[in-house]
Amino acid sequence: MRYSKIIGTGSYLPEKVLTNVDLEGIVDTTDAWIQERTGIVKRHIAIPGQTCSDLAEPAALNAMAAAQVKPNNIDLIIVATTTPDQVFPSTACIIQQRLGIHGCPAFDIQAVCTGFIYALTIADQFIRTGAANCALVIGTEVLSHIINWQDRNTCVLFGDGAGAVVLKRATEPGIITSKIHADGSYKELLEVPAGIGVGFDAVNNPLYMTMRGNEVFKFAVRTLERIAEETISSANLTRDDIQWLVPHQANIRIIQATARKLNLPMERVVITVAEHGNTSAASIPMALDVAIRDGRICQGERVLMEAFGGGFTWGAMLVKF
Ligand code: UT7
Repeated sequence: MRYSKIIGTGSYLPEKVLTNVDLEGIVDTTDAWIQERTGIVKRHIAIPGQTCSDLAEPAALNAMAAAQVKPNNIDLIIVATTTPDQVFPSTACIIQQRLGIHGCPAFDIQAVCTGFIYALTIADQFIRTGAANCALVIGTEVLSHIINWQDRNTCVLFGDGAGAVVLKRATEPGIITSKIHADGSYKELLEVPAGIGVGFDAVNNPLYMTMRGNEVFKFAVRTLERIAEETISSANLTRDDIQWLVPHQANIRIIQATARKLNLPMERVVITVAEHGNTSAASIPMALDVAIRDGRICQGERVLMEAFGGGFTWGAMLVKF
């Protein structure tokens, strides 16, 4: 049987840091409100002109170094992003060129905060079917470029960054199972209501994110509890078989609710939301990289990753390291 296994992780954060206290000078908010309602203390922000491929490149190089693979070993590149450099070519093609990789398929996928779970699921399928042997999967975002910095409902929540993994063919799993879902009927609750089709202009209809946060929050909590159970039981495992939860980092209260449902103590949950904020498709691979590099996640342990985001999209994946 062919399976896939994560053999290296990497991440990269832009240098510029924006603290809650900095935000107090921009909108009507307080450090105390942000920490209490979200768990966020600070976030990293790209400087003008810094693109998601600028963040993805060092993250990918870190993952490839950890995996000890060379550019010519990579035969598939998938980038999950909501904030691509250009309409086209895809950010994956831009990364491919920057890494000196030629000829392999390279494409972006768009599933907002669930993007990394979608991308890794697709890469796993490519490897299981024999269409690829060694995939580079990246989640990268410059959400600060689509934030309305006058809107306190959203601007305090998001940050920029990139995370990457190298996924290689293996004789045993690796990726045990994954579940991905979407329901487009909730589009208005979380969206950028501007773009090529519906039009945009810098003054009247800018490329800004809008969110009905409280409604998203309730839906996210319910859905993440369900998807966690669905994923674990589809692998014929129980909650006791899971050593780590690496959740999408949107809000500490959502993460705590999922951990409670799984009966996992918070020491078994990888949390980066305080330092990174919500980095959408980048949040899970960055959190994974942090917990692998600091030695928390060890060989042989099972990790559940789960995410929820605009679309709505949601998904979870069970991985053995
Ligand atoms: O990653 C993809 C999915 N995204 C998410 O999962 C995010 C889900 N939503 C959330 O995390 C939370 O709903 C938020 C953090 C966005 C908001 O927390 P909440 O507890 O749901 O607050 P709320 O929206 O119900 O607002 C409570 C109050 C409101 O004031 P009133 O109407 O009660 O007077 C808001 O106007 O808090 C006010 N508020 C703020 N106050 C200070 C909203 N934003 C801020 C702010 N600073 N930044």
